[in-house]
Amino acid sequence: MTGDGIDRTAVRRDRFSGGPARSFLSSLAADERIFAADLAVDRAHVVMLAERGIVEGAVAGEILAALEAVESAGHDALPDGEDVHEAIETAVIERMGPDGGRMHTARSRNDEVATCIRYRLREDVIETIEATIGLRARLADVAADHTGTIMPGYTHLQPAQPTTVAHWALSYESTVRRDTARLLDAYDRINRSPLGAAAFAGTPFDVDRERTAELLGFDGVIENSIDAASSRDFLLETTGALSTLATTLSGLAEDLIVFANRGFLELDDDYASTSSIMPQKKNPDTLELVRAVAGDAVGGFAGLATTLKGLPRAYNRDLQRATPHAWDAVDAVSEATRVAAGAVGTAEWDGETLAAEAGAGFSTATGVADLLAAAGVPFRTAHEVVASAAERGADFGAVAAAAEEHLEDPLESYVDPAAVEATLDPAESVASRSSTGGPAPEAVEETLSDARGRLEADREGLAARTDALAAARDRLDAEVDARV
Ligand code: ARG
Repeated sequence: MTGDGIDRTAVRRDRFSGGPARSFLSSLAADERIFAADLAVDRAHVVMLAERGIVEGAVAGEILAALEAVESAGHDALPDGEDVHEAIETAVIERMGPDGGRMHTARSRNDEVATCIRYRLREDVIETIEATIGLRARLADVAADHTGTIMPGYTHLQPAQPTTVAHWALSYESTVRRDTARLLDAYDRINRSPLGAAAFAGTPFDVDRERTAELLGFDGVIENSIDAASSRDFLLETTGALSTLATTLSGLAEDLIVFANRGFLELDDDYASTSSIMPQKKNPDTLELVRAVAGDAVGGFAGLATTLKGLPRAYNRDLQRATPHAWDAVDAVSEATRVAAGAVGTAEWDGETLAAEAGAGFSTATGVADLLAAAGVPFRTAHEVVASAAERGADFGAVAAAAEEHLEDPLESYVDPAAVEATLDPAESVASRSSTGGPAPEAVEETLSDARGRLEADREGLAARTDALAAARDRLDAEVDARV
């Protein structure tokens, strides 16, 4: 009941959706996630309405004071409603009477919710970006410690060629670097304001869309009001980038699981688990969960894409069920990224086991073929010689015997035996691969310093964005304080 004795919420609810579908229709519980966002959006809108003379200054002040009280009471104290937007408005009206309803002048829940989602999602994406930067820093540290740690490299999970732990770690650093870039890109498209689009067709009130955008820290507006109220491609794009990151993480997790299995590394106890029945077990459960998060992310993407596909312009209530897919994906992937960083950053690599395994399965065979090819033997012939050697063994004698069978002249007439011996050594093999991006320590050092530079640049890029948001929060607070 309000000052003029009319219970408007009851009037509205009596007629619509008070029936059995009420809880199906309501997003109030899920909207807790955008409670703070909605309050900020309300404040910016009311400040702008006052500045434009659309709502009287004194009324605006009362609304802003009521919003403060609603904020202190918290989401759980909200009255019932179809969603957080309706519930907050009802709470404001309950506190100050029908003038509270002026808050919804020149807007709709459609532009309001789109603004709230963008407002909240950008914070979540900032967290994910931070997590990717953290992971990259840990990978770079692993690389710095292990430029000389030889390890076996695999294709098809079969021993293939020796490499180093640093080379392996930096391979993930550069993939995750692109994940950071994709998320930064997505952020810049998220960070535009749909507010002022109203239901979809704009409003006859003389609103200042740029002003509310600025007060909320957005980089500008989504211009077309139909696009602004109804598009959710920013959710798809973000979830797509999260899916890509989660896929990268799943590979990293799988590598670590395999390496732990082979005794190449030991996971820190904080990132392992045991069995409830087998007391001796140390299991990589944490990494298995990281691996599984790709399912959450891709599931979120699929849920979103399926929900959004074929929706007509402009707003449809389907959009209410689209949003949580993005929340689930961003939460799961941020956490998985942090956990992966911790697991890889704390693992203890076993240099001896790695070195012993690095030459297994004649992993230096390609190098021997390369040596023959460099001496003038056609590479395909060299390949055959070494393939035949591989059937006999993985040492100089095997190569010499194979050469005798397949080449016109003895092996020594093509290559220096000492060079063959050197090539058969995994560390020498690694050292010889020094072109850009290769595993040789000097090449890795270069990749590493490049990685550190890009890491710093991304840190700065992220800080510029978070600083802009903090500045906008301060600006809005100051405007509100000046009016209550
Ligand atoms: N809660 C809704 C959502 O999340 C916003 C409400 C818009 N409702 C409407 N009938 N147009 O999308």
